[in-house]
Amino acid sequence: MNAAVRAVTRTAIYNGIEVRGIMHGYRGLVEGNVVSFQTGDVSNIIQQGGTVLKTARSKEFMTIEGRDKAWATMCREGMDSLVVIGGDGSLTGARIFAEEHNVAIVGIPGTIDNDIFGTDTTIGYDTALNTIMEAVDKIRDTATSHERLFFVEVMGRNAGFLALNGALAVGAETAIVPEIATEVDQLAELINNGFRKSKNSSIVLVAESELTGGAMGLAARVKDEYPEYDVRVTILGHIQRGGSPTAADRILASRMGEAAVVALTEGQRNVMIGVRNGELDYVPFTQAIRNTKPIDRDLLNTVRILSI
Ligand code: F6P
Repeated sequence: MNAAVRAVTRTAIYNGIEVRGIMHGYRGLVEGNVVSFQTGDVSNIIQQGGTVLKTARSKEFMTIEGRDKAWATMCREGMDSLVVIGGDGSLTGARIFAEEHNVAIVGIPGTIDNDIFGTDTTIGYDTALNTIMEAVDKIRDTATSHERLFFVEVMGRNAGFLALNGALAVGAETAIVPEIATEVDQLAELINNGFRKSKNSSIVLVAESELTGGAMGLAARVKDEYPEYDVRVTILGHIQRGGSPTAADRILASRMGEAAVVALTEGQRNVMIGVRNGELDYVPFTQAIRNTKPIDRDLLNTVRILSI
């Protein structure tokens, strides 16, 4: 996200536009925690994870009174447009705020979950995937030496992109994802398909979700229903949300940040910058928010074929 903050700031200043950084997301807008940003304020941040602006989940901004206060901050500061970087919740807030107060807002998709419709990828996703890959490569040594079945839980509360593409990247047996959790018993399917025919150790990536049962839930089931397996669990947790961003993420965030400012100067509003087949695009907020981005089910098949 820092690469996007840097790109927005510098593109705006390059175009003669003044920039304010809003601290702690919508909470800062409600509380008036807004600081002037110069080019130097975004020096040396492209390589840092997290966001120098900090972030927060603001309950107040979800109320009309809170959004009125946010609008008052904008008027006081002389701000006429906003660039919002975030996931589904941030973009939903942006859409409502833009409707109520006629503010020009452009969104940038930032979430490790990659679950935003209208864009092939989101800022943070590639970095999280690479973190998963490095961690699971290390777990594999124990899995192989001790001949164990490992459930590795990755983030993605509502979406299986990290689990699915992570599984492909690490050569896992399969990914257990929320999208199909109500359709099939993915654990039974895995075991009944004879997944350990040609090997003694196995790694399965599980999306953290009530729908999948999470890695702990699945391991408990294995102990109960398939006691012949020596099962272990690793929950990767918040290591997936930090660390120095990959080149792909820095490039994506830089391009999207620049495009967001250009969009505003062109009079665009209520759109998110998306990327499709490498090309940047404007996606109306309504489309990005209302639609659910589907996982590629064929990829799940690919993971399984490649693990025989
Ligand atoms: O929505 C992004 C996400 O990273 C999810 O994948 C994950 O389940 C959740 O946030 C974790 O949230 P928190 O940091 O509040 O525990």
